[in-house]
Amino acid sequence: MPKQQPWTPDSWKSRPVEQQPEYPCPQECDRVLERIQSYPPLVVVGEVEKLKEQIALAGAGKAFILQGGNCAERFIDCNETNVANKLKILLQMSVILTYGVRRPVIRIGRIAGQYAKPRSKPTEIVNGKEMPSYRGDAVNSMEPVLDTRIPDPSRLESSYFHAAATLNHIRALLDGGFADLHDPYRWNLDTIESSEKWHEYSHVVERILDAIGFMESFGGVREEVLGRVDFYTSHEGLLLGYEQALTRPDVTAKRYYNLGAHFVWIGVRTRQISGAHVEYFRGISNPIGVKVDSTCTPEELVSLIGILNPGNEPGRLTLITRFGARKIDQFLPPLLHAVRKSKRQVTWVCDPMHGNTTQARNGTKTRDFSLIVQELHQTFQIHKELDSCLAGVHFELTAENVTECVGGAGDLSSEDLSRRYETYCDPRLNDSQSLEMAFLIARWLQTP
Ligand code: PEP
Ligand code: CO
Repeated sequence: MPKQQPWTPDSWKSRPVEQQPEYPCPQECDRVLERIQSYPPLVVVGEVEKLKEQIALAGAGKAFILQGGNCAERFIDCNETNVANKLKILLQMSVILTYGVRRPVIRIGRIAGQYAKPRSKPTEIVNGKEMPSYRGDAVNSMEPVLDTRIPDPSRLESSYFHAAATLNHIRALLDGGFADLHDPYRWNLDTIESSEKWHEYSHVVERILDAIGFMESFGGVREEVLGRVDFYTSHEGLLLGYEQALTRPDVTAKRYYNLGAHFVWIGVRTRQISGAHVEYFRGISNPIGVKVDSTCTPEELVSLIGILNPGNEPGRLTLITRFGARKIDQFLPPLLHAVRKSKRQVTWVCDPMHGNTTQARNGTKTRDFSLIVQELHQTFQIHKELDSCLAGVHFELTAENVTECVGGAGDLSSEDLSRRYETYCDPRLNDSQSLEMAFLIARWLQTP
């Protein structure tokens, strides 16, 4: 491990860096980043610190984290309906969880900044033609045209403005009473209620809906159920130039925060201990996450924790595990043991999506709802058996009735996928699959 030099917002530049776009004109990129640096931050230190405290509570079993949203956000989806729908599904799930879990639910959207995607391969074949991979709207265009796949730095500035517009609308909706559970904030439970599985969890669903109805009869659930309706933003902190431009000192000038989002995470492709991403993340004071998969050894994980949370601050570091249903039994327990032995404070969250991506017969990328459920359920059980705490969940989901993941109450088959397959990157749970997932979690957490 390299000896640690003092951290600065740009000290990551001295480390090997993965997954960065190669701009035809780097000077143009510098000019764009300078402008972004001059813009106001998107969030403020007080909010970021509050989230850190809440994540610490979740780590101690006193709150529960619901993190979710698109795999990749796109600029064209930055419109009133889309933003409202994304907020709606997360709020609905959080209401179900609040009742099920009987703990405050911390809502964190993969939203207002999730514009950059790490890719396993530099090129991809679209319509039989090889071209540079789409790396998210922050980098290039999804359109399968060679020219528009060339990284364009002006897209970084567009990311800032689209994130600002999205966040502005979220804040306005919440301030304006959107969290009220009345129309147009309707529950779409038809698919779940008409499914064969209904009897499995009708009890939980009915109890939760009864409780919500009861609260509503007292003049609305807004205050009682959702509290102050805090909502936080998050994205993968991938493009380090952009993240650096939104990194600002606090009033004491002793601490730095990434004020482009409340929470940022390191993906599995960029978590190299000596790499630039770990270097950048170690110096910001936000609550941060690291995705953990089966390639991460217990020793490596303990070293990463030491670098990323040297002060052992509760709420600072969330480990987001994503092994896949077939690997979880083998890989999670050794990591839990190692972290326990190291006496390090972390918050564990499960992302049951990214280890369960498969290809349907026609080659479409999909995920099987039952495997997602299986990984999550096993994760809860393993934590419980080892006297650890699973503090939250991380999903790729949408409020639209898309057909991207097979299974679930609507029993989507691989033949159904072409009906409404709209994701720009990974397959997401649709509205009824998301609600079903929330009911399942509520049920598991109610069983003593
Ligand atoms: C993601 O969250 O979209 C992602 C790419 O995850 P991971 O880094 O776990 O593969
Ligand atoms: Co994804």
